[in-house]
Amino acid sequence: MFGPPGRVAVDERLPALREELGADVCIVNGENVADGAGITGKLADRLLAAGADVVTLGNHAFRRDGIGSYLDSSERVIRPANFGAATPGRGLAVVEARNGVAVAVVNLMGQLFVDVPISPWEVVDDLVAEARAQAPIVVVDFHAEATSEKIAIATWLDSRVTAVIGTHTHVQTNDARILPGGTAAVTDAGMTGPHDSVIGVEAELAIRRMRTRQPVRFQPAHGGVRIEGVFVDCTDDGRAEAIELLRISA
Ligand SMILES: [Fe+2]
Repeated sequence: MFGPPGRVAVDERLPALREELGADVCIVNGENVADGAGITGKLADRLLAAGADVVTLGNHAFRRDGIGSYLDSSERVIRPANFGAATPGRGLAVVEARNGVAVAVVNLMGQLFVDVPISPWEVVDDLVAEARAQAPIVVVDFHAEATSEKIAIATWLDSRVTAVIGTHTHVQTNDARILPGGTAAVTDAGMTGPHDSVIGVEAELAIRRMRTRQPVRFQPAHGGVRIEGVFVDCTDDGRAEAIELLRISA
């Protein structure tokens, strides 16, 4: 989700969309809801009230003051697990879906072309084992830049988790699929936010910063708002049966 346009789209459309799809659980990556970078406790609460069961984050998790103490006390708003033990918050949430089945959500960050203190490969196996001990359905939000790394993690986790959903690039990829072991995967779920933009930012500002190499304060764009994401159908024991891209004009 990106900025105020993404928030408005979610506030207005998410409850009806959940009903339409019959979604038993809803996971939202919310690291950019606060004006395009970061999240506040108040905005996280608003996402949960709008129908998100779990909010995941990423490299912009700690852009806003006060979010650390919020994450320390939250069970449903999580940050990447490979940020290190001294970082506030946790990287795993377990919630009950509407149909009563436990769902574990893991948030993990890639290490290619992004700055993260611990390699995802160092923590992923223990983290997934911890998740599987608590829930038959395990969804991984792998927040990463490189398509290769996202595909590698999804392949590594095939048959051990229900879905590996890539986030971070804001660009939805056309590779949603069920891997041979029964794990649903997509390289990037895309962006709920303004698509007449450079990944959410006013295009003119993003281009000016790139062309001139001067500091330019980014502002969220407004036009072409879409809700993007994926819908995964799975059995109660956590095997994915279908994955479908969502791309809805808001
Ligand atoms: Fe990100």
